[in-house]
Amino acid sequence: MAMVISSVHATLFARASFFCQSNGLRIFRSCLPFSSSAASVSNHNLSLKKWRQPVLSVLDIGGVKISREDVVRDDPTNNVPDNIFSKLGVQLHRRDHHPLGILKNAIYEYFDTNYSNKFDKFDDLCPIVSVKENFDDVLVPEDHVSRSYNDTYYVDPQTVLRCHTSAHQAELLRSGYTNFLVTGDVYRRDSIDSTHYPVFHQMEGLRVLSPEDWETSGMDATLFAATDLKKCLEGLASHLFGAVEMRWVDTYFPFTNPSFELEIYFKEKWLEVLGCGVTEQEILKRNGKPNNVAWAFGLGLERLAMVLFDIPDIRLFWSNDERFTSQFSRGQLGAKFKPFSKYPPCYKDMSFWISESFTENNLCEVVRGIAGDLVEEVQLIDNFTNKKGMTSHCYRIAYRSMERSLTDEEINDLQWKVREQVENKLNVVLR
Ligand code: DAH
Repeated sequence: MAMVISSVHATLFARASFFCQSNGLRIFRSCLPFSSSAASVSNHNLSLKKWRQPVLSVLDIGGVKISREDVVRDDPTNNVPDNIFSKLGVQLHRRDHHPLGILKNAIYEYFDTNYSNKFDKFDDLCPIVSVKENFDDVLVPEDHVSRSYNDTYYVDPQTVLRCHTSAHQAELLRSGYTNFLVTGDVYRRDSIDSTHYPVFHQMEGLRVLSPEDWETSGMDATLFAATDLKKCLEGLASHLFGAVEMRWVDTYFPFTNPSFELEIYFKEKWLEVLGCGVTEQEILKRNGKPNNVAWAFGLGLERLAMVLFDIPDIRLFWSNDERFTSQFSRGQLGAKFKPFSKYPPCYKDMSFWISESFTENNLCEVVRGIAGDLVEEVQLIDNFTNKKGMTSHCYRIAYRSMERSLTDEEINDLQWKVREQVENKLNVVLR
């Protein structure tokens, strides 16, 4: 049985969505399973692939075996590291006792109740998609920052790990689905702190409207869609957060026009909940719906779950420690997480002269590749350019385990490896 929703790490505090704001700049900044009603859709010739948990180094996608070597290759057109390969197929959002699964189910419940089970739910579509699906089909401009190797994991020049669940919009539309929710793991190269992790989970929703829906309303199609969208999402926010104050903020996404973000006033702060808008007509035209309008949204599950369950660090979602996992159960939205203890952090500073090709995302990949989830934050603490035009950066790395105290010895060992690889791989000169 499939399930739904997502975003923007992009949106809640986790990360600014790459797609919001205007183009080129760091914008933002989100298998076939199908529910029973989905089965009635005529076109079954989908390339939507059924997703299976990887077995050791081989993944099974819709019966097709994908080995580690297909996804992680020593080749300049590939930037997928082993620690990312190991997350493929884990599908935290499909665990009913996990905060992400609990949240997903709460959102399903809202849609099932308010739309009489009309929304088809997908939660096991394969995260390995084409560049066309991830970007072209949703009108992401050729020069958009999200397409860069610095921001997205490329398997090869035509294939990526999806960076948002919007990657599935076009194909589902073409396959005849008109009300759907897609939940899935999404992948982005990014900085490291308590709200950013290179794998997170999004839910996407899309609803197609027909002339008979808006003709009697006295509104034009776009206004009707925007009004319907806002009503739906305000209801969803109340379902999840209770009676909270809300506001709509105009924004930009390549795939919608107009585009909005919904914010709620929660714990004395405005919190971005999701991105949404009226689907660009071009997307509908290209995918067999030229006479309709549609609305869509995307939301980040971690971002919302961190707030709803009081989870202080995004790495906890991946923890198998019973002291974390035993605190959540099916259907219990908003059970408050009780920290089992806070182990001391250890800080290590590292300074180097950068080269033109240096990026913080590349540094973070190196650190994560060595320290995994023992790294809590990588922060630029000093930055200057000398008279000769050489630029120096000093980064502070915070190491902290969620589960135990770390020894000086193991941290020193990690830091030495980090220094060595930073120098060898990033073309910088340590100071
Ligand atoms: N794909 C966007 C992101 O990852 C989120 C999003 C925004 C999805 C607006 C949508 C939408 O469907 O209409 O940041």
